[in-house]
Amino acid sequence: MALYSDKVMDHFRNPRNVGIIEDADGVGEAGNPICGDIMKMYIKVDGDVISDVKFETFGCGSAIASSSMATEMIKGKTLDEALTLSNKAVAEALDGLPANKVHCSVLAEEAIKAAIEDYRAGIAQKEQKK
Ligand code: FES
Repeated sequence: MALYSDKVMDHFRNPRNVGIIEDADGVGEAGNPICGDIMKMYIKVDGDVISDVKFETFGCGSAIASSSMATEMIKGKTLDEALTLSNKAVAEALDGLPANKVHCSVLAEEAIKAAIEDYRAGIAQKEQKK
């Protein structure tokens, strides 16, 4: 069996939603100290819905594929729905990752959660200033 599924290879070779959102409403970063890979997620929020999402990943192919798949899974979803996205769901959507690459999908889950937290912290600050 091939080490990587066709879906992993597809998202690695043609990653969706790569880039930066200059005027992002929330930005989240996650890193793995062991491999040194870093993932950054940018979200745009419209009401309660993630209207746009982009990522930058300085990391391995599985991390790039995981970020790409994760962005597709949360685009158009509410913040609460996006918060429930688990790394397991990302890995399953990619038709699985090798055991030593599961942590790459954890970065995607963590970066999305961090971006949503960043967005919510910004809202809370604005409310306080009122
Ligand atoms: Fe660390 Fe893939 S090897 S994110």
